[in-house]
Amino acid sequence: MNSLLIRNGICVLPGRTIKADVFMENGSIVEIGQVRRSATQVIEAEGLHVLPGIIDSQVHFREPGLTHKEDLESGSRSAALGGVTSFYEMPNTNPSTTTVSALQHKIDIARRVSRVNFGFFIGATDSNLEELIAAQSVEHCVGIKIFLGSSTGSLLLNDRKKLKEIFLKTRCPIAIHSENEEVLLRRVDIRNNASSAVSHPDWRNVESALSSTKMIVELARETNRKIHVLHITSKEEIDFLSAHKDLVTVEVLPQHLTLFSPDCYERLGNYAQMNPPIRTKDHQEGLWRGVLNEVVDVLGSDHAPHTREEKDRPYPNSPSGMPGVQTMVPIMLNHVNQGRLTLERFVHMASTRPAQIYGKNKGRIGVGADGDLTLVSMSKNHTITNGEQATKSGWTPFAGMEVRGMPVYTIVGGQVVMANGQLLEAGKPQLI
Ligand code: DOR
Repeated sequence: MNSLLIRNGICVLPGRTIKADVFMENGSIVEIGQVRRSATQVIEAEGLHVLPGIIDSQVHFREPGLTHKEDLESGSRSAALGGVTSFYEMPNTNPSTTTVSALQHKIDIARRVSRVNFGFFIGATDSNLEELIAAQSVEHCVGIKIFLGSSTGSLLLNDRKKLKEIFLKTRCPIAIHSENEEVLLRRVDIRNNASSAVSHPDWRNVESALSSTKMIVELARETNRKIHVLHITSKEEIDFLSAHKDLVTVEVLPQHLTLFSPDCYERLGNYAQMNPPIRTKDHQEGLWRGVLNEVVDVLGSDHAPHTREEKDRPYPNSPSGMPGVQTMVPIMLNHVNQGRLTLERFVHMASTRPAQIYGKNKGRIGVGADGDLTLVSMSKNHTITNGEQATKSGWTPFAGMEVRGMPVYTIVGGQVVMANGQLLEAGKPQLI
């Protein structure tokens, strides 16, 4: 029987952070404390923090159809290197994942190639309600994704009647990209006449995000339906959402907490272009307030790789999105070290809450929980480089940034898949 003992780490347990051993067997956590059993493998974790496995609940791994940007193998490799033990992948592939069979196709590939746990969203259209209903009982389907405004790919659903039907007839998690298509179309001249990505947040302005978020929360209220709104970008939305926490869970991204306009566009050009866009510092501060006062539930990366050749096309022909699954943990640990949030709050948003929202036996170091752990060094200094990124796109907006705090081991189902920045090939973990 395979067993793994993590000795003497500083464990972030529910409600307290203590020095303890963690013993895992058969893919689960079996004992926490002063463990006297012997194990087939032992990690001496003195000085390391032991976190429940980090879950990245918003990634775009591009398979099928866009595998020149990424595929499930390279995406999962990036996850493992970044200390991420589970990823939940979005449906704007080619074809879009809008049927159970398309979902199954992705699941089959992931079963073969993924190094970490995985889940997939099914995308909502104006005519696939039956597929959405059926997908709810598919293992590894984590929920429904709705694009209220168009972004990368062709998925879009903003018909209130259709949305209401989905809200009423399904029970699984619904994750929502909230931008108002009508506002985006009304303002499209700003985009068409722009000479650089600095205009991107002007085109996709606060109104386009806020009006959409208000509309969808109103619909959630009307139908008494829980929803999860993805990548919130404005202080106005944080203020608005704070009054709706009984029904709405909220995600923010490390890039919106770290980069800001106009600086990011001046430094990175189209490489800072994403939807919804990176806004000014006052919005970033609003997002941080949301993190600290618990309006924000979840941190996800929105890993959305595009090749350099694609990003180098003159704006607005450059696609929106940036990679992030490998940098989410280092960027956020650096914020912890800078005193912006506690390690416990980070763990809550990047592990505990996503596990709760998506109904997984993960997100806590507790007896009986799945054996997913992320071991981090809070004192390790590192300069992020493009070269170390496993994404096929080969770049990160954080290249050159010096961070303090790095993932050191990624443990999935009681098996080490990454140690000290190296992927381990031995033994494929049971993925759930
Ligand atoms: O910037 C973005 N890129 N936002 C999205 O919603 C989609 C993503 C992508 O898939 O490229």
